[in-house]
Amino acid sequence: MKFTFLSLFPNLISGYFSDSILKRAIDSKLLEIEIIDFREFSNNKYKKVDDFQVSGGAGLVIYADVLEKALKAISSRDSHIIYLTPVAKQFNSYDAKRLASNKKHIIFICGRYEGIDERVIECFVDEVFCIGDYILTGGELASLVMCDCISRHIPNVLGNAESLLGESFEDNLLEAPIFTKTNIFSKKISNLSIPSEYSKGNHSRIRALKNELSLSKTKYFRPDIYNKVRICKIDI
Ligand code: ADE
Repeated sequence: MKFTFLSLFPNLISGYFSDSILKRAIDSKLLEIEIIDFREFSNNKYKKVDDFQVSGGAGLVIYADVLEKALKAISSRDSHIIYLTPVAKQFNSYDAKRLASNKKHIIFICGRYEGIDERVIECFVDEVFCIGDYILTGGELASLVMCDCISRHIPNVLGNAESLLGESFEDNLLEAPIFTKTNIFSKKISNLSIPSEYSKGNHSRIRALKNELSLSKTKYFRPDIYNKVRICKIDI
């Protein structure tokens, strides 16, 4: 799968792919990353990419025609163009799975300043996403969050496909607490006992306990999604 990032600050993006799981996925040709400074597509002799708002008001807006030129140069029939903005539906793990299984090439437009001319969204963008109810200084971090999350769902990107099972947000539940197998020697930590059922090897009992712990964590931290949980009793 290919991801293209259109940004005025390419260095903010490149570092994220220089280590760990996504670097390995690039080395194994499971992922291809392209980072483009869209300032290159400015017609202006000073490479200007923004202007004041027609309505007045603080902040500059990115020109529509600079992005049109960039998109025409890099997109194809297979491309899916996403703009990151607070004015959108919130991205979630269902979107990540859908995009990982349906799309071959995702282009992220990373806005800066007050954002981009709305006509770019109308004319060229396939989907818009917000990553949370807060305002970032630009779309770069938001696009990296989406790229990371989508990439985990591409077959073979994670070393162990089982890591994707029973994760937080599956069935609107947060994941149960986890602990290392080996002993801990710190007194402060080992004074806290772990659930004894975890180490007894009875997998159906462990599953039932984890389900209960998931429910209470979700109820405590995320009452909003807890209300959507279909309570299912696990028989031991
Ligand atoms: N750009 C600025 N803030 C953002 C957010 N919360 N989500 C997506 N793009 C953004």
